[in-house]
Amino acid sequence: MANNNKISRRNFLRGLGGMVVVVAGAGVWRAADQGVFSAGAGPAFTAWDAWRADMNEGPLSLVHAAILAASPHNTQPWIFDVQEEQIDLYADTTRHLGAMDPYLREMYLGLGCAVENMLVAAGSHGYAVDLSLAEGELSTGQGDRGFIKVATLRLTQADVQPSALAAAIPNRRTDRYDYTGDPLPETTYTQMTALNSDDDLAVLFYLAGTTAFEQFQAGTVAGAEYIVADPEMAHDSFAWFPTSWDNMQETKSGPYIDTAGVDPALRAVVKMVPGMPSMAAVDSALVTDAQRHFDTASAAGIVAVRSLYDVNQTLRAGQLWQRLHLWGTLQNLAMQPHNEMPEVVDRQSQLGLPGEMAQYLNAITGDEGWKPTFTFRVGLPTVAPLPSPRRPAQEVVRSAVQGT
Ligand SMILES: Cc1cc2nc3c(=O)[nH]c(=O)nc-3n(C[C@H](O)[C@H](O)[C@H](O)COP(=O)(O)O)c2cc1C
Repeated sequence: MANNNKISRRNFLRGLGGMVVVVAGAGVWRAADQGVFSAGAGPAFTAWDAWRADMNEGPLSLVHAAILAASPHNTQPWIFDVQEEQIDLYADTTRHLGAMDPYLREMYLGLGCAVENMLVAAGSHGYAVDLSLAEGELSTGQGDRGFIKVATLRLTQADVQPSALAAAIPNRRTDRYDYTGDPLPETTYTQMTALNSDDDLAVLFYLAGTTAFEQFQAGTVAGAEYIVADPEMAHDSFAWFPTSWDNMQETKSGPYIDTAGVDPALRAVVKMVPGMPSMAAVDSALVTDAQRHFDTASAAGIVAVRSLYDVNQTLRAGQLWQRLHLWGTLQNLAMQPHNEMPEVVDRQSQLGLPGEMAQYLNAITGDEGWKPTFTFRVGLPTVAPLPSPRRPAQEVVRSAVQGT
């Protein structure tokens, strides 16, 4: 009997050992299946390498650069019509952010970013560019209007003039990690401010430790709380988060957990949870990150325009952000848009509510003549961020686009 017990205990333990091996094996298999060991690899990331390999494809080379630009929620709201001597850029309004971006203002900022990457890359490819940007006024209710032309680049052959900024195109990353908290030299701000020569645009900085910086941080947290408490905004934001590794590799879009600025162990856990990430987790991260991110930033920044819903100024403001971020990449700065405050300004305006957030922003800038359209943080990096997914040029180029 005692012997039997011993045997059965041994068998039991052996059986348990087998189960642990099976469970661990299944865990490793699921981890591999969910890309735990493959961050930054797969079809959604080939565009980051393709842009160098495809240097000699004529005008299409510029599209390879354009698609690496920043865009709100990584929506990549663009379609390109590429001819021998001309590229037309269209807004793909089906890829809108709903209540998060009711005027398509952020969409147009992202399109401006794509324009800037093309302009920066053009010299390296031996092109001079004559650029025309769309005019008009952004308004609500433009989502799902198909394709709207926003820019035409007329190309002529020119001497090859490689630009330093072009080298930064494949290395630029939105950095959502903690920064070091160290101050930046004064010259960093003067040089960044000098990247703007457009009278309709302004870049404003608020250094950590100042009252305006603290107001900026508190306003960003309040903006995040507002978004989470507004069911439509929270829903329309969450809709762009990939639901799995495979879903991300297929859509090649959206904010993916590998770029959330969290450590590898947490990324692995989130990836392995079926249906990841949960809306509650995303909402809670939005609020805590808004606080945490500014605790270690060197400064907060604003890109402002003269007229908040002017199409042309919004596109140019997007260009300016992309230029600032490319320049920052060359200087090894860490940078991240934190656009909660302008997003709430749009939402309050759309709903006809008193413009409390607009007033709050005005109090920070102290100048009603400038309308903040884009807010961000800057500092020094602690971790090298991963690339975000991208749809390659083949998926976003159409000849003879049917648009307005
Ligand atoms: C208009 C605009 C608004 C953005 N707002 C935010 C934001 O509030 N928070 C954030 O973390 N990233 C924001 N981003 C950054 C995008 O999420 C990012 O560009 C996109 O995910 C692609 O990643 P990448 O910039 O690393 O290529 C914004 C980008 C743009 C162009």
